[in-house]
Order: sequence, then C-alpha cells, then structure tokens
Amino acid sequence: MCGIVGYIGNENVYDILIKGLHRLEYRGYDSAGVALVAPDGKLSVYKARGKVSNLESFCADKNLDARAGIAHTRWATHGEPSDKNAHPHFSEDGEIAVVHNGTIENYKVLKDALIAQGCKFHSETDTEVLAQLIEYIRVENQCSLLSAVRKALRQVVGAYAIAVVEKNNPDTIIAARQSSPLVIGIGENEMFLASDATPFVEYTKDVVYLKDGEIAVIQRGKPLKVTNLDNVETGVDVTTLQMSISELEKGGYPHFMLKEIFEQPRTLRDCIRGRVSDDGKRININGINDHKDKFLNCKRIVIVACGTSWHAGLLGRYLIQEMCHIPVVVEYASEFRYSYPVLDENDIVIAISQSGETADTLAAIKIAKSMGAFVFGISNVVGSSIPRETYAGCYIHVGPEIGVASTKAFTGQVMVLTLLALGIAQLRGTKSEDEIRALGEEVLRIPSYVEEVLKLDKEIRRLSLIYTYAHNFLYLGRGYSYPVALEGALKLKEISYIHAEGYPAAEMKHGPIALIDQEMPTVIIAPQDHLYEKIVSNVQQVKARGGNILAIVTEGDSVIRNIADHVLEVPVMPECLTPIITSVPLQLLSYYIAVNKGKDVDMPRNLAKSVTVE
Ligand code: AGP
Ligand code: GLU
Repeated sequence: MCGIVGYIGNENVYDILIKGLHRLEYRGYDSAGVALVAPDGKLSVYKARGKVSNLESFCADKNLDARAGIAHTRWATHGEPSDKNAHPHFSEDGEIAVVHNGTIENYKVLKDALIAQGCKFHSETDTEVLAQLIEYIRVENQCSLLSAVRKALRQVVGAYAIAVVEKNNPDTIIAARQSSPLVIGIGENEMFLASDATPFVEYTKDVVYLKDGEIAVIQRGKPLKVTNLDNVETGVDVTTLQMSISELEKGGYPHFMLKEIFEQPRTLRDCIRGRVSDDGKRININGINDHKDKFLNCKRIVIVACGTSWHAGLLGRYLIQEMCHIPVVVEYASEFRYSYPVLDENDIVIAISQSGETADTLAAIKIAKSMGAFVFGISNVVGSSIPRETYAGCYIHVGPEIGVASTKAFTGQVMVLTLLALGIAQLRGTKSEDEIRALGEEVLRIPSYVEEVLKLDKEIRRLSLIYTYAHNFLYLGRGYSYPVALEGALKLKEISYIHAEGYPAAEMKHGPIALIDQEMPTVIIAPQDHLYEKIVSNVQQVKARGGNILAIVTEGDSVIRNIADHVLEVPVMPECLTPIITSVPLQLLSYYIAVNKGKDVDMPRNLAKSVTVE
C-alpha cells in the first residue's frame, strides 16, 4: 500500500504534498514524510510516525520553502511503524531521497551486499536498500541519477512505485513502477505524480498512467519523458481524468463511511444507468456484447477477489448459477495462486476489486491469462491496473470510495454481478424474456428501496447503543443472505475491532452454537425467501439457548418479529436482489457501533484501503 505524491512547479510544494497525502491516507497511515528540494538545492526530509496531521505538527516550525519534492504515507511491511522507518529514506551520504510503495523481495541480499561495501543502514525497511543502492551505483559509475535508478531497478525483485529526488537538483524527479500504481499529472508549467490521481484532481485532468517497467523523468519546464529499463522511450499516453473534487470531500457528513453509505441510492443509479432499458426488458453490458462468443461458450466461471470484493464474488456465484446455469467457483485471489489452479480457454475468470490494484488479485489475473482463460474485471477506480490487465470488464461507477471499510463499492459490485448474470442469461437464453423483464424492472427499483432502508438510520443508531459493548457477534444467513452475513461481520470487525463471525445459518448447529449465550448477540439476515422456514428454525435454536437476536426481515414479517429481540424491516423484493438491500442496515449498524466506541471509522488501525502487497 502506501501513498506517494510528488510535485515540481511554481507553487509551494509542501502544501500540495500535504494535501495530497491527506487524500492518499486511505492507503496507509503508519507514518508520513516529505522530502523538499529548495531552490538553492538543499534537500530536507521531515517525517513523523502516525497520521499526516502528526507530520504537519512536526513541520510547523520548519523552513518549508521549496518548489519540488516528494512525499509518502506508509503502511508498514518491513519494519515497525516508527519515525526511523518512515519514508522518505536517504542514501548514506544524504544525496538522494526515495519514497516507495511496494515490497522489495530480494532486499536482504542487496542489503548484505551493500553492508559488505561499507554502507550503513538506519532503518529496518526494504525501501532504504533502494536509496542506498541507487546512490552506491551513482557514485561507483559516476553516472546520472536516471542511469543509476535504471541500473538499480534491474537488480531489484519485487513490487515498487518509487519517486527519487537528489540534492542540488530542484528541477528533476525520477519515478518508476513495477506492480504498484503510479500516475503522473501534467499541468501548466507543473507536474504531479501520485499513487492515484486524487492528490492533483483540482490542478489537471491530463494524466499518464505509468506502466510496469517504465521510468518517468519529470523535469521542470520540459515535456515528460518515459523510458523502459533498457532506456528505450516507450511514449507518453495522456488520458483525461473523469473525477471531480467534490467527490473527495465529506459533504457535511462526519465520516466518509457514512457519506458513502448514504450515497448508495445515487451510486446504484449510476451503476445501472445505460445497462438496463427503461422498461427493464434489455440488459446491455458492453463487456458481454463485445465478447459474446466467450460468454456463449464458456463452461465455467471462476471468480477471484479479496475481502469485501470476495463476498460480492460469493453472491456472484449464486446469481450466475441461478440465472445462467454455469458452474461458478469463487476463490480468494491470495489462495487461488497457490491452489495449483487448472484453467483453460473455456473458463472465464472474473476478477473483482474496488481499487483495481490489489496485488493478490492482479497476480491471479496474470496466472489466469497465462493459462488461456478469458479474464473479465469488475473495478471501481478508472484507469487502475486491473481494468488495464483484463480483456474486458465493467466499472461499478460508484465514485471514489475513501472510507477504508467498503460500502458503496460492495453494493456496486453486487449490482454489476446481478446485471452480468442477467446479461449472460439473456444471451444464453437461460431466462425467458418475461423473467428478465420482471427482474430488470425490480433492478431499476433498487435505488429507491435503498432510500427506504436508509430511513432506518435513526432506529439503527438507537439499537447500536444496545449492542456496542458486546465482545463477540455471530452473523447468520442462508442462501443469498449468507455472503451478506459474512460481509456484515467483516464490517463490524474492521471498524469496531469487535470479533464477529459470519456463518451459514445451518452450519451453526455444527459448532458455533456452542458459543451462544446472553453475552453474544446474533445478527440474522432473514428476508422472505425460499429458505425462510428453515431460517426461522435457526432463529428458534439461538433463542432456545438464551441468545440475543437482531434480525433483518422483510416488511410484514410476523414470525421472526415475535422471536427476535429486535428487528429491522426492509422492502420485499425478489430473493436474488435482496443482498443489496439487506447489507445496508448492517453497514449502518457497524458504523454506529464503531462511532459509539470512539473508533477511527474511516481509518481503522492496521488496515489500508488499497492492498498492493502480497
Ligand atoms: C473492505 O471493507 C476491506 N477493507 C477489504 O476487505 C477490501 O475489500 C479488500 O482489501 C479488497 O480490496 P479491493 O476490492 O480494492 O481489491
Ligand atoms: N515496504 C515499504 C515499507 O515497509 C513500503 C510499504 C508499502 O508500500 O506498503 O516501508
């Protein structure tokens, strides 16, 4: 993870870097730092453990006058979060400073070799090896910084997005990437670089997404130059950014997470727009239309994803199997790679990722491609690595998601999977026209159903007070509600630090039922569906053991209402469409519990939004 920012221009670089770091803080907040190259060539590095605000306090009395610099917000992989491990890292002679996102797998070998040459290390990070190696090569070869970076990177195994500055050169930043994202923004007489485009969205819409193996030379007053590690120019491909500054602000909400939960009616409308005809009859997915033969002939679908996106993938399995009768398996991307996968050209691999940068998912894509499968991506961040690495795909179009806990991206992913399932069913004729139309009409209603569910906000806030101090939670669901239970439990864990387990309701009796007592609340997702009677039995079983139950039920439910301690009602809808609706109250429940506990909702401890390390 980690966020990188850089700037060369005529403005005060410190202000731009700090603002950029705040926008990238979702990527990590273990420490932050800046390296400024003053007009007289002085190179100053300031860094502090913790969030960017700590760095700001630390810098309050420093001389920050510079027009070029780089900055970093860290999610530690090598070495604890501390001042000394914070980036930027210096070379031993203090001539160059480096920021890095990624992991250098052979750092130990390189470090030992440098130590043998007399280099002294001051941190436990893999990144410092890069700084020392680049400078060692530059001095040894009496070469330019660019040439030293190129030579150093040829020795490096691992993932990196780096930016390097040198003393006495306030006019140049060298940047490079391999498997970690890096975007360059081209403004008027100024240039930016960052892990994503959010730090410079208000300054320029002209961006260049650096590709793996490329090195960019960003020079004051000169056009951007991009080469590969063999020093061959690879060309500068400028694209226009579709993002606005208002999407990056809280808009009056206390937290991004709450804003993002409340945005869902709109984000779901954006996600559906153009993909379902107004009468619900036609499903129009470009990624399917352009590759009809693949979707007509495929024998199996393999979904790969991590975390919340994996939960969306599980729902994708139910949706595609129900509507298209194609066998679907869902894999954690991180395990898929090591499960000796067997794929061929009859398989479609669907990779799901909000950020489009998750390292494990990207690695799974590479394997799938190498085995001949057709790879389809579902992502949110336009221009990120996954859409670029896949043969076709669908954006979820929910806008930037800043809260580390995924909410609107989850419902967007489930919506796209629903549309994909409907689209494939339409193509393969596994659902009749009437069935497609009936579901299409309901899909169009989902945003307003979500509006209804959001009216439960006050009630959920009230209930959250009752549940805040539980130490453990069980979340249960069956069928389509099982992945919702998993997602509900993950939301609670990650932002309130309460242990929560999601379980298929029927599996409870095979073990977890032993945990049930008055201390452990059970959240049961029990909409009216074909498993309703069975889940009523599960509710009874929990109640019989003295458990407290909060149930998500559909309007008009009277059976569970009489057994559960608390119920939240959601609108009635077709079974396969309930997950989007039932997941929203669970998002709010975890949000309010975390707020009640005084937790940092948008930046929970130890987590980062974009997991670009394996
Ligand atoms: C979601 O709340 C999590 N923070 C996390 O599980 C996330 O879904 C996971 O890291 C996958 O990220 P991606 O969708 O960007 O690939
Ligand atoms: N490996 C570097 C460190 O630990 C960068 C971490 C990252 O990008 O996640 O400092």
